[in-house]
Amino acid sequence: MNVSVALQERRAEKMFDPAFSISDSQVTELLEKAVLSPTAFNIQNWRIVNVKEPALRQKIREVAWNQDKITDASLLFVICADLNAWAKEPARYWAGAPQMYQDMLIPAIDAYYRDKPQVQRDEAMRSCGLIAMSIMLLAQEQGWHSCPMDGFDFEAVGKLINLPEDHVISMIITIGKRTQESFPRIGKIPLDEVVTENNF
Ligand SMILES: Cc1cc2nc3c(=O)[nH]c(=O)nc-3n(C[C@H](O)[C@H](O)[C@H](O)COP(=O)(O)O)c2cc1C
Repeated sequence: MNVSVALQERRAEKMFDPAFSISDSQVTELLEKAVLSPTAFNIQNWRIVNVKEPALRQKIREVAWNQDKITDASLLFVICADLNAWAKEPARYWAGAPQMYQDMLIPAIDAYYRDKPQVQRDEAMRSCGLIAMSIMLLAQEQGWHSCPMDGFDFEAVGKLINLPEDHVISMIITIGKRTQESFPRIGKIPLDEVVTENNF
């Protein structure tokens, strides 16, 4: 499947077949590709919780507006980020690069993030958004369907997954086989409202 087709066919699906399953090896293959997505300074600050336990899914559903897909989808990923990834052995993010780049970039990472909580959080959300879209397109390529979600109580889900203090949740992605055709696309605003040339 080429990227254009995957983009056209991806929809936020509402209902998933609870009997459909995706193997661990398929999950690994998908995620190995998804982590090729870009992050600023290559810090790979995304962290993904693959929620497999049905009882935990049920508890998440209870704090997610009782949305069926939380329990019915084959996969549920909580897309999180480590706000302090920039400080955790940053040399590994540039290991193998020419020494000149290592000498320049490793201190630059520190200068960019240290004592800047807004930057740390913005960057977390940027990275998560990028990997989330990759995951959804890769799912589409497999003939699966997906739904990005923020219709849940972030604090409650954080507690259920033991979210570390210095991590944040960006969104949930559910993946599986849909049980009904998607609704027609609606409400797309005109491209000239989205795009402007040179400045606003
Ligand atoms: C960050 C984010 C959160 C969303 N949360 C939910 C959700 O909790 N439940 C849901 O059914 N759809 C959710 N959606 C799906 C959007 O409603 C959907 O993407 C949008 O209406 C456009 O439809 P399409 O993705 O099918 O083109 C979410 C989408 C995004 C990007």
